[in-house]
Amino acid sequence: MRRARIISCASYLPESVITNDDLAKRVDTTHDWIEQRTGIKSRHIAAKDETTSDMATRAAQRALEKAGLTGQDIDAVFLATTTPDQTFPATAVTVQDKIGMGDKGFAFDIQAVCSGFIYALATADNFVKSRQVSRALVIGAERFSSLLDWNDRTTCVLFGDGAGAVILEADDSAQGTKEDSGILSTHLHSEGAHRGQLYVDGGPATTQTTGHVRMNGREVFRHAVTRMGEVVVEALQANGLEGKDIQWLVPHQANKRIIDATAQKLGLPPERVVLTVEKHGNTSAASIPLALCTAVEDGRIRSGDLILMEAMGGGFTWGAALVRY
Ligand code: UT7
Repeated sequence: MRRARIISCASYLPESVITNDDLAKRVDTTHDWIEQRTGIKSRHIAAKDETTSDMATRAAQRALEKAGLTGQDIDAVFLATTTPDQTFPATAVTVQDKIGMGDKGFAFDIQAVCSGFIYALATADNFVKSRQVSRALVIGAERFSSLLDWNDRTTCVLFGDGAGAVILEADDSAQGTKEDSGILSTHLHSEGAHRGQLYVDGGPATTQTTGHVRMNGREVFRHAVTRMGEVVVEALQANGLEGKDIQWLVPHQANKRIIDATAQKLGLPPERVVLTVEKHGNTSAASIPLALCTAVEDGRIRSGDLILMEAMGGGFTWGAALVRY
């Protein structure tokens, strides 16, 4: 059986760091409020001329270097972003060009907001399993600061910028069991009836402006806790596994309280949860690959570990992926 294995991962964070105290100088908030309600202490913000494709390319190039590969070894780029460089072309084709793929393969963007990386991973996994792609770059990259209303304290304190990339490679030696390395299963969901709870109040076909993010935080929080709790159970059951079998929960990093609730549902102690929200804030589609790379680089996640990733975002969209690293 063929499975898609993660053979490399890398990330990129912009240089500039904004603390909660910095934000308290701009809007009516405090470090304590932000830290207590979300777990966030600081976030990285892109430089003025730094684009989503710049950050995605840096992460992709680092992932290629780590794997000893070049752009010519990649068949497809799946880039999850809510903050494309332009309305079109897809930011993924800019990355394809910048990493030297030339006309090799194909590249496209995936838009599922904070669930984007899970959606991109699921899409890439299916292309690999159907033997249309042997090696794929899956990237989550966001310049979310571009969408923020810096006078709205209910949203501007929550988000940050960054990018993370993984390389998937086909492995035809898999046995089709939960002991295999690679992506064991992915689970995607959406419910468009809730699209008004978390959205951007602009767009090419409506206001012809980029717009700003608007959120009913309490409702989103409520749904996030419920849906993430459901989808992690779905992923475990699909593989005949229990919470105790998971070595690492690598969740979307929106709010520490939501992450704690999911970990509790799984019966996982805090030391088995990868938490980066403190330093990254919510980087939307970039948050899971950023967290994954953090724990791989610091030696926590090792080959053979079972990882559960999950996310929930605007739409609503939500999903999970179970991966043996
Ligand atoms: O990534 C996609 C998924 N996104 C999420 O998962 C985000 C989900 N939502 C959340 O994380 C939380 O709802 C927030 C962190 C956004 C808000 O926390 P909360 O505990 O739900 O607070 P709240 O919205 O109920 O607001 C409580 C109070 C309000 O004041 P009143 O009405 O009680 O007087 C807000 O006006 O806190 C006020 N408030 C703030 N105060 C200081 C809201 N934002 C701020 C702020 N600083 N930045």
